[in-house]
Amino acid sequence: MTLLALLCLTCVYVGILAIQKMHLSNPNKNAPFSVIESQTTDDVKTEAIVDWGNLMIAVHYPSTPNEKINQQLSQYANDLVNQFKSSAHKNGYANDELYVSFTTHKSGEFIIGFKFDIIERRTNNASRNEVQKISFNLKTGDRVVFEDYFDENNQPIIAQIPNNIVTPEDTENKKLVALTFDDGPHSRWTNELLDVLQEENVPATFFVLGSRASRYPDLVRRAFDSGHQIGSHTFNHKDLTKLPQGDIDFEIGESAAVIERITGQKPAFTRPPYGAVNQAVQDTAKTPLIMWSVDPEDWKSQNIDQIFTHVMDNTKDGSIVLLHDIYGTTIEAVKKIIPEMRQRNFVFLTVQQLMAARGKNLENGSIYYQAAP
Ligand code: NI
Repeated sequence: MTLLALLCLTCVYVGILAIQKMHLSNPNKNAPFSVIESQTTDDVKTEAIVDWGNLMIAVHYPSTPNEKINQQLSQYANDLVNQFKSSAHKNGYANDELYVSFTTHKSGEFIIGFKFDIIERRTNNASRNEVQKISFNLKTGDRVVFEDYFDENNQPIIAQIPNNIVTPEDTENKKLVALTFDDGPHSRWTNELLDVLQEENVPATFFVLGSRASRYPDLVRRAFDSGHQIGSHTFNHKDLTKLPQGDIDFEIGESAAVIERITGQKPAFTRPPYGAVNQAVQDTAKTPLIMWSVDPEDWKSQNIDQIFTHVMDNTKDGSIVLLHDIYGTTIEAVKKIIPEMRQRNFVFLTVQQLMAARGKNLENGSIYYQAAP
């Protein structure tokens, strides 16, 4: 319910929704559907394939500002029509009917999704009602294949929540450290980690993947509401240095858009996957790029003691520790790391708090590994 309401706020629907109606009438028959409707937006128009032979065909499909997308949509619509025609002819069903309408969903600057309602009525009374969904990257024109943009009820699942304020901790006479967690959220381990951090009252920084954040917005929301910082680890975890500019724009921009819709704030920091950067990445990131100074390779060993020992041996005042909240072993290691660090006079901060505490003046596109005194 709220999801839908909020979606309306964030989507382009408010004020600019245009509903194009197409009246279909056939003088020779009592058409079972006199109207089909397709929902468009200001930059999406309705194209139609209408064929009143013996077969009754009315297919709506969208056209967008991107020609590459339009070619794929036109192909898709024509395939639907041709498949319908050939099966009707094969079965000798001369009076079959096909109706296709669509709704348009936009997510941020980059993702556009279409939901097609397909209705087939057969002369033999067999009928087919089906929903098909196709999403595109509006900038590159490529298909976006991630089933999580629509949920099982075919609703887009990205939502928005209010802001939350993080209060800086007292850092006097303490060593400072920032724990960072990449590649989540994970349905099980992120939740367990948040329990641990809550119990220990430890703030952390999550570099989430946009694709996973849109799938588990509740986890991102919980982390954000608990006072943790949400940074972007891009949308799909690709090596940005191997991508053309349009894809770099998408990976950074769409992930930021997803995070902003969930938390109400753009991510203050980006961590490029694999720490891979080049000039194009630095120029595209609208935030400072945050790396790390301690890497226990928790994903590789998945060994609690090894992770614990590496972190304890290598963490210094101002360190940024790289961990992943997608492994149970990492959560177990964190349970050991927190009390031992406190024993050694460390205080835990988010990356933002750490940088602020050290008076770092961060610049967008610049790279930071730690914040030594
Ligand atoms: Ni990663």
